[in-house]
Amino acid sequence: MLSAMNTEPVFNNLYIQNPIFYCYTTMANRTQKIVVTSALPYANGPIHLGHLIEYIQTDVFVRFLRLIGEPVIYCCADDAHGTPIDISAMKKGILPEQLIGEIYNEHVRDFKDFLISFDSYYSTNSEENRKYSNLIFAKLKEKGLIYKKEVELTYCPKCRRFLPDRYVKGKCPKCGEKDQYGDVCEKCNSAYSTIELVNPYCAICGSAPARKTSGHYFFKLSACSKDLRKWLESNRNLQPEVKNYVLNWIKEGLKDWDITRDGPYFGFSMPGEENLYYYVWLDAPIGYIASTENYCKKGLRDLKSSQQKDADKCVDEYWKKGRIIHFIGKDIIYFHFLFWPAMLMNSGFSLPEDIIVHGFLTVNREKMSKSRGTFLTARDYLKVLDPEYLRFYYASNLSKTMSDIDLDFNDFKSSINNKLVADIANFAYRVLFFAEKNLGSKTASFSEPKLEKELKGKYEGIKEAYLNHDERKAVRLILEVGSIGNKYFQDNRPWELMKSKAGTAAKDRKKMEEVVSFCVSLIKDISIIIKPVLPRFSSNIEKQLSIKEQSWKDLGIKLKNHRIGKSAILIKKIENELDRFAVRDELSMVDLRVAKVLEAKKHPQADKLIMLQIDTGTDRRQILAGLAAYYQPEELVGKNIVIIKNLKPAKLRGEVSAGMLLAGGDGDVHKVIQAQKSKPGDKVFINGIEPMPENEMKEITIEDFAKIKLVVENKRVKYKGESLRTSNEEIFVELDKGSVS
Ligand code: MSP
Ligand code: ZN
Repeated sequence: MLSAMNTEPVFNNLYIQNPIFYCYTTMANRTQKIVVTSALPYANGPIHLGHLIEYIQTDVFVRFLRLIGEPVIYCCADDAHGTPIDISAMKKGILPEQLIGEIYNEHVRDFKDFLISFDSYYSTNSEENRKYSNLIFAKLKEKGLIYKKEVELTYCPKCRRFLPDRYVKGKCPKCGEKDQYGDVCEKCNSAYSTIELVNPYCAICGSAPARKTSGHYFFKLSACSKDLRKWLESNRNLQPEVKNYVLNWIKEGLKDWDITRDGPYFGFSMPGEENLYYYVWLDAPIGYIASTENYCKKGLRDLKSSQQKDADKCVDEYWKKGRIIHFIGKDIIYFHFLFWPAMLMNSGFSLPEDIIVHGFLTVNREKMSKSRGTFLTARDYLKVLDPEYLRFYYASNLSKTMSDIDLDFNDFKSSINNKLVADIANFAYRVLFFAEKNLGSKTASFSEPKLEKELKGKYEGIKEAYLNHDERKAVRLILEVGSIGNKYFQDNRPWELMKSKAGTAAKDRKKMEEVVSFCVSLIKDISIIIKPVLPRFSSNIEKQLSIKEQSWKDLGIKLKNHRIGKSAILIKKIENELDRFAVRDELSMVDLRVAKVLEAKKHPQADKLIMLQIDTGTDRRQILAGLAAYYQPEELVGKNIVIIKNLKPAKLRGEVSAGMLLAGGDGDVHKVIQAQKSKPGDKVFINGIEPMPENEMKEITIEDFAKIKLVVENKRVKYKGESLRTSNEEIFVELDKGSVS
């Protein structure tokens, strides 16, 4: 019978293509603990829809394991250390501890609202993490895998800090492209170190950095090549595409890893060192273990024990005797397939049983973009839509591959309305409503052996799909189950059976009760198979059916002689909500305004720059312009120019530029763009593209603006063939042809 279907060991399906692990796991103790993790999000920004691919994928898996009764915990944390967090805090004028505290609360709230069911959500800036970082470092040292070496680094004397890759810019040493970061050139893709940049400047303050040597600790990753290769080759769970990448890196030769940073740095200071810290990527993955200890301590507190040895024992159950499963995005493969296992294998911990790697989110086939309005945070989404829509949509598109996942709003809407709502939610509501009205007091018994067998097959397939991280297939099969139910209800026409004439009434009534009861039980089953994806929907069905929380083994058990509760609509269709996310033209994100030049003088430390004091209509501010070769400062005073008002402020050679003016150029000549018949504060736009409302305008970067192609044609500035204007005039420039920057 259906109810007996969950008696075989659950691991069979997980290792179906994996003979080695198969034998091991089928014999394994069913109580072997499992720790599942998602990568730790950085504590310097909000959770966005890209991140959520990973947390939803992991959550679906973890909820499924719980449903089949596995002793699994889901651990994660904020990744709270590193230079970007330190600098973000500095710019806000707060301590890093305060910044990470605020972000932590936001992250926890966002995850909770997306129904992500962590057993522990911790922070890498914790005492547990410090302890494990020191412990693992000590073990690696004991094994002779750590050495100290002098390195030459880029140092900004003005900021008094060493500048990591992203904080020093300059000309690419290979192709000469300007404004490249200190690690790779975006134009020619060549990789180099910060000290190789030509004419480098500090990305924080703009001044020229110096070189400075410092003693750093290195981890001998090169010495782990053989063991890493062995692990990769013997682990049959890992995605072949990922494995090939990593094996190739090993073949090309692994470089040793600099695991320290000089102060000031927000991180753990190294014991016995003056001004050295662990590099954030050393303590970040260790945060998985620290978060597990946090989970263990919570449990122990409930048991009124505070013994450290009990906590250690609990952690070992997961990290030395248990099964470790990570979920990550494709950008952090190197850390999780090389550094991390090399650390684990040399410090007495187990190796991951699997690392599931997913692709990136695109929105309407393009990278998320602030200027197009497609960079959506978890909060932006929640203001408009039900979190379970996104869980359903992602699950419908996920599998164990690195392919990117596209959020296409048309597809999203039709997937929710035509699949989730039409095939599942409406079917459930229709049946439960009908049963509530017509079933009298209780469900009846029924027998549909053929259908029950077919359904059992589907459930098996769904279970296997969940275990193999083929969420897409699981959803497809769930929808098939919904269709079977829909068709059955439709074909048997219980509403007509209700209306039959005297004589056949009793027989028809019985048939109606059987049909509806079959459907009610089927809906109970649907609530179980869909629970990992839609936990709230599922528990609402349980409430309406007035049954207790179900688990996988309740599948196929018939609800007989059961009084169901009140029915209510379960999930609504999407109407016009998505208009809120309509893709905007990039230009609408740029706050173009008329401003008047009040004063102008040369920048004391930069030949090419002029410093302008301007009136923007709402404030006075300073902007810098690279116009010294084309204008005497006095010539600019009194002109009504056009500025980008919401450009992220930048410091150039020690002076702040809060915005940027527009100028047209054709190589030799550069002319400012003007609006003489308008007044400071007037909007500049083209007909047909409405600028965003002022309170929704976000700060944009120079890179965002660079994507917008403005050209000069016959003294006018054109965008997509239309002239830019204020309400009084078309703006103009003394130039026939050229580009605008
Ligand atoms: N802090 C590191 C991870 C440390 S793990 C020991 C980090 N943080 S992150 O916030 O940038 O990313 C967290 C996870 O979200 C990563 O697995 C990353 O791949 C994933 N994603 C971040 N942006 C993403 C998209 N746009 N699309 C899909 N996943 C993305 O990396
Ligand atoms: Zn600096």
